[in-house]
Amino acid sequence: MTHPRSSLPTTSSARLAAVALAAVTGLIAASPAATAAPDRIGADATGAGTLAAPDIPFANVKAHLTQFQSIATANGGNRAHGRPGYKASVDYVKAKLDAAGFTTTVQQFTQSGSTGYNLIADWPGGDPDQVLMAGAHLDSVSSGAGINDNGSGSAAVLETALAVSRAQLQPTKHLRFAWWGAEELGLIGSRYYVNNLPAAERAKVSGYVNLDMVGSPNPGYFVYDDDPAIEKVFKDWYAGIGVPTEIETEGDGRSDHASFKNAGIPVGGLFTGASRTKTAAQAAKWGGTSGQAFDRCYHSSCDSTTNIDDTALDRNSDALAHAVWTLGTSQPVPPGDSYENTADVAIPDNGPAVTSAVAVAGRTGNAPAALRVGVDIKHTWRGDLVVDLLAPDGTAYRLKNSSSSDSADDVITTYTVDASSETANGTWRLRVQDVASRDTGYIDSWKLTF
Ligand code: TRP
Ligand code: ZN
Ligand code: CA
Repeated sequence: MTHPRSSLPTTSSARLAAVALAAVTGLIAASPAATAAPDRIGADATGAGTLAAPDIPFANVKAHLTQFQSIATANGGNRAHGRPGYKASVDYVKAKLDAAGFTTTVQQFTQSGSTGYNLIADWPGGDPDQVLMAGAHLDSVSSGAGINDNGSGSAAVLETALAVSRAQLQPTKHLRFAWWGAEELGLIGSRYYVNNLPAAERAKVSGYVNLDMVGSPNPGYFVYDDDPAIEKVFKDWYAGIGVPTEIETEGDGRSDHASFKNAGIPVGGLFTGASRTKTAAQAAKWGGTSGQAFDRCYHSSCDSTTNIDDTALDRNSDALAHAVWTLGTSQPVPPGDSYENTADVAIPDNGPAVTSAVAVAGRTGNAPAALRVGVDIKHTWRGDLVVDLLAPDGTAYRLKNSSSSDSADDVITTYTVDASSETANGTWRLRVQDVASRDTGYIDSWKLTF
């Protein structure tokens, strides 16, 4: 379903032909040049632009749960390791993936005298040296159908994989999805997979995202507090829909991410709670029933299709897609044209403002919404400095205020300014004023990148 949230921009600046520059007072070196280390636009101001994830069709997620329930019902009421309902679950998921163009592999192992199966699905393409994985355990306990534990995570991962196929996504990273066997016997399948990955292959796994129990009927919204980058994409997604999250604490190491973490692979994941009780504070922020378990049917026969909170499962499915798209599709934004002034301009101590100019010509239309302003000011107490960017029409954009407590040296950074209401062509100025006495410095250089 669709949620009101900000989508990530996919901007990449159009490159324009290099232009000649008019001479401007105080300007000794100004030429449009590709920046060596461009900023990128997207989820991460310093990292990369990403593609926006599609909304995951929740009806499809539910349809997978209906199928898991039918499989259990037809096979003695469960989908447990070593029972026919498990293998039938693998066959169901594999058929969907094969039809969608994945390269699937069934990995067999033996546990407690029975054959176990991991299902691995690779999406062709992406950097083979950077593999992003998402997975869920597909087995249930023997006492029930395991619809929340873990049909929910299995269905969310499956529908996200199918969304990758529908989008014919061309990710930067290689995407690999996995459904683990025998998690309920002690993370057996995932550990077998990781232990049997050659060290060189293991080193290529840049992250593993785990979904285990993501539709609990009295849900909490828990994010694993592990790899910061994975944690951030989930937290950002939830912040975007205004739903508070908490760090997952109901037994770290109790699901398949532990197998990866033990091998030094960055991990993250989502969880809506198992047998632990929802507190009054949690019920106040998430709704549901305080004093009651997040999942009263945990590991019980009542973990059936009625044991699902649709809103929680819908959100977590969309959150996973967001994570796969964000972590998997980062792509550098092409470097823009830069206009630089490298002439030194002294900044008088506690004195009037000084400016340094760059002339921009030959562009069309307005400046970008993410105009980058690279500033290199040498100073012995940067807290003295107030810095503005002046557009050709004189409009000032504050880049930095003074601060009596900021005693560090120098201002060497890149600011991003929404200059989309300014005409690109004309003379832009960096204005710097030193507003406190004693420490001094100079503008070493600055540049605009369009
Ligand atoms: N993995 C457990 C199971 O399948 C459930 C569980 C307990 C869990 N604590 C967790 C899953 C924390 C993820 C995170 O029975
Ligand atoms: Zn379980
Ligand atoms: Ca000063």
